Amino acid sequence: MARVLLLNGPNLNLLGSREPAVYGTDTLASIEARAAAVARETGHELQAFQSNAEHELIERVHRAKAEQTAFVVLNPGACTHTSIALRDALLGTALPFIEVHLSNTQAREEFRRRSYFSDVAVGVISGLGAYGYEAALRAAALHLARGT
Ligand code: DQA
Repeated sequence: MARVLLLNGPNLNLLGSREPAVYGTDTLASIEARAAAVARETGHELQAFQSNAEHELIERVHRAKAEQTAFVVLNPGACTHTSIALRDALLGTALPFIEVHLSNTQAREEFRRRSYFSDVAVGVISGLGAYGYEAALRAAALHLARGT
């Protein structure tokens, strides 16, 4: 049994009502509940955290390391395209992570094409909507089982 952290960045607390044509109609609470169920099913424990503040996301990553969290599933929201500091927190703690985006960021505005996370992530899931979180949790379980 390992501890997995589901970390969501700015504006993802608005899921359900935020640009539903882009992000779908699932709420963050329902996404977190589904992710927790998948974690349980695969023998792991999920902790979920969302913040609109970059420094709180960074501090949560630091705390995850201190609490022996084994893996992070991360949707950095707009921090994807801006936050060297959050990237450095993940590199500094050496926590393996999968980057998730509800929308296909490569098919949107030019500024969304750059990610400060993709090149250091275990993998990236983009454009599959809320299902992307479930897919990431399952991939995290495989990664933990392989121990690589
Ligand atoms: C997002 C894509 C980002 O570009 C955007 O700023 C978000 C959500 C996604 O899940 O598709 O807040 O990460």
